[in-house]
Amino acid sequence: MKNIEISPSLLSADFMNLEKDIKMLNESSASMLHLDIMDGVFVSNITFGIPIIKQIRKKTDKILDTHLMIVQPEKYIKEFKNAGANILTVHYEASTHLNRTIQEIKELGMKAGVALNPHTNVNLLENILPYVDLILIMSVNPGFGGQSFIENSLIKIKKLKQLIDEINPNVKIEVDGGVNLENYTKIINAGADILVAGNAVFSSKNPIEIIKSLKEI
Ligand code: DX5
Ligand code: ZN
Repeated sequence: MKNIEISPSLLSADFMNLEKDIKMLNESSASMLHLDIMDGVFVSNITFGIPIIKQIRKKTDKILDTHLMIVQPEKYIKEFKNAGANILTVHYEASTHLNRTIQEIKELGMKAGVALNPHTNVNLLENILPYVDLILIMSVNPGFGGQSFIENSLIKIKKLKQLIDEINPNVKIEVDGGVNLENYTKIINAGADILVAGNAVFSSKNPIEIIKSLKEI
């Protein structure tokens, strides 16, 4: 059986009671916490940054899975490392010198990911796959939680899985946006290894149970 990892997105957490939500996630079977960093430029929303990540780091030993939806992410790699990020994922569309950006992330001892917007073709990854740890497929247009899963993402995940098998089988596929109990099986069967879930987890009365269910196929 495939080991699926769940990365609940704090974007849908209760920011007035963040510590309580983190404690709940610490007790759950989620292996990571997904942190959505938005700058109001790359996407039309602004979330939180380095000081908040530092505080989150003090409250959990889980992997901090940091998804940068910001322009020029290369400017802040060290800051995110110092704040406690374990995985740093930058958007393909936001980094002009992606190869260098990925190298810098890895040199600092973090895992490096590349995220793709829904319209970006997975074939563009051919020359970066040898160097990355994960590819994050955005299955909604980035910017907000609680949106509907874009069905075309399943085709992208399948194509990406083929490319990964050919070029670098160590690369994990993370899927982010609109993941829920109705569609997670299809997403896993298409090739996903890590599922991000915001709304599905935090709108539930029993988030721990939802996280457990999303791991079961
Ligand atoms: C959207 C973010 C996602 C989002 C997922 O731009 O990257 O991580 O929080 O939330 P749901 O699961 O509610 O679509
Ligand atoms: Zn995200």
